[in-house]
Amino acid sequence: MGAHETAADLDRKFGVPGVARVVEGNGRLPKVAVTAGNASGEMYLLGAEVTSWKPQGAEEVLFVSAASKWADGKAIRGGVPICCPWFGNKAGDPKAPAHGFVRAKAWQLESIEKNGGDVTISMATAGDAETRKLWPSDFRLVQRATFGSVLVMELEMTNTGQSSFRFEAALHTYFRVGDIAQVRIRGLDGIRYLDKTDGNREKLQKGELTIGTETDSVYLDTAHTVDLIDGALRRTIEVSKENSRSTVVWNPWIVKSKAMADLGDDEWKQFACVETCNVAGHAIELAPGQKHSMKAIIRTSRS
Ligand code: BG6
Repeated sequence: MGAHETAADLDRKFGVPGVARVVEGNGRLPKVAVTAGNASGEMYLLGAEVTSWKPQGAEEVLFVSAASKWADGKAIRGGVPICCPWFGNKAGDPKAPAHGFVRAKAWQLESIEKNGGDVTISMATAGDAETRKLWPSDFRLVQRATFGSVLVMELEMTNTGQSSFRFEAALHTYFRVGDIAQVRIRGLDGIRYLDKTDGNREKLQKGELTIGTETDSVYLDTAHTVDLIDGALRRTIEVSKENSRSTVVWNPWIVKSKAMADLGDDEWKQFACVETCNVAGHAIELAPGQKHSMKAIIRTSRS
């Protein structure tokens, strides 16, 4: 968005009446509000962040904290923040923003397209003088989110510079759950993971994962589908992906939630993050002119 373009300006340019409008959301930040045949949803220009997806006839799938700060330059707590070009702390630079800088930037709205009962919203951001202070590379990053009976998020990185670079990326999806104590995560049995709560020690997952303590694990070599089975809401959320080799599972649990200013003290009970990523040893190397696209494909069903 140009600094002078308001939500109303963007709506005149891109809005599709009855399907997707650009309006002011929380903190008066511009967002696209989707009310298409197959789903409703929301996507903010701040961080190109999807904050809501409700397939037709189903309940909200994503969690957003009631304590989230809604301001330019601040990451939204919940939804699907995009972590890029690094994940977690930047190696060798502890003062750099955690999870990269794109989640706290205002992106450009590029298009809204209706396709039957689905809507695809594209937003983009690129390297500039500010980002070069934190990361020297020239890049263009596009997030395409399709809201339908399936939610598809495609994150496409292009190297627009003259030299190769290496980057990490995560679609840091916060799933809303009825009760974290009744959540099971299936599809990680026999997978090696780095336990960030235990000095990054490598461990082996045995059986289904349940969350009964702070959990911050990077599962390696996980290109396959993972299911989140929510016993309280009686639904299964299926997370499939393309060109993603790592999966992060995160829940801050009690002590960390209390320490986080933008998360309610008890909200840890209401979400689990299952993140579609390429991080750690799965970081992507891109030569000048090359593109890489990573997709998360999310479905829900009654269970
Ligand atoms: C997870 C990381 O993906 O995100 C955790 O693995 C981190 O280590 C969490 O605490 C939340 O990060 P942030 O920067 O949004 O508070």
